[in-house]
Amino acid sequence: MSAHIVAGPVLTGGEALAPALNLYRFPHLYDVLKAPDDGDVAVVRELIERFVGPAPWAILDPACGPGNWLRPFAPHAALLAGNDNCPEMVEYTRACVGAHTVLGDMYDPQLPHTFDVILEASGVTSLVPDAATLCRWVGTLGSLLSKGGAVVLLMNFETPPAAELPAALWQSDWRPVPGGFARIRYDLLADMPGAQRIRRTVETEGGGWPPLIVEDYDLSVWPSDTLQALAAPPGMRLRACVDAANGQAADAQGERLLVFTAA
Ligand SMILES: C[S@@+](CC[C@H](N)C(=O)[O-])C[C@H]1O[C@@H](n2cnc3c(N)ncnc32)[C@H](O)[C@@H]1O
Repeated sequence: MSAHIVAGPVLTGGEALAPALNLYRFPHLYDVLKAPDDGDVAVVRELIERFVGPAPWAILDPACGPGNWLRPFAPHAALLAGNDNCPEMVEYTRACVGAHTVLGDMYDPQLPHTFDVILEASGVTSLVPDAATLCRWVGTLGSLLSKGGAVVLLMNFETPPAAELPAALWQSDWRPVPGGFARIRYDLLADMPGAQRIRRTVETEGGGWPPLIVEDYDLSVWPSDTLQALAAPPGMRLRACVDAANGQAADAQGERLLVFTAA
């Protein structure tokens, strides 16, 4: 399976003064390097069929990035929509995926629709500061659901600590991008209670892309008891916690897909 390994640094005002290279500023690279593989997509599609019913679905990704979790669902979609707080991502997803896109905060998405499926499968939940905020966010997303709809979120739960650090987590092969090739790798630099420090390295050849984009950032890794905290977000109920690799019911350890429906 492709790495879900998440999210990335939160953009801060400081970058306006001293612009740092950030993968989010290069949606095409992100799209190619982080495209979910067929197995990842099949697990999510089966979950949606189980909890929502057969396609077509109106689908929203509340932190859509380059839309690479929207594109695979285009053949099954009555409506594809994305929200993101990065203008480059919003423009790219509109132009390249054909989704309705909105520039905005995922905590308060402003969309004039309701959705059968609200899906974030790259682990942006690791950017949420605490379980109470996560719980409220699931409730907010729930208020955008159509009757019978579901919220599906990827969460990274704590796993036993790595034997040695730094530890290689995942590396892509070289992939074609306009004018050249690119690859990405993730290394675990530090394993702390509730958080991991990740280094993301993107290398490119040709095409005028920056040859190297290196970013270090911390991600929340949720303790397993977060699952209890998420049992009943406002107006919602947690219905399933499954292994993102195979869709089987699983305990809260590692990459898990959580499904919420209306209470
Ligand atoms: C890991 S990517 C996920 C992309 C997409 N969901 C996917 O599955 O590929 C994280 C995205 O979340 C966006 N993001 C981070 N914090 C956000 C927020 N508070 N509101 C909206 N978008 C946010 C970033 O701009 C970035 O495009």
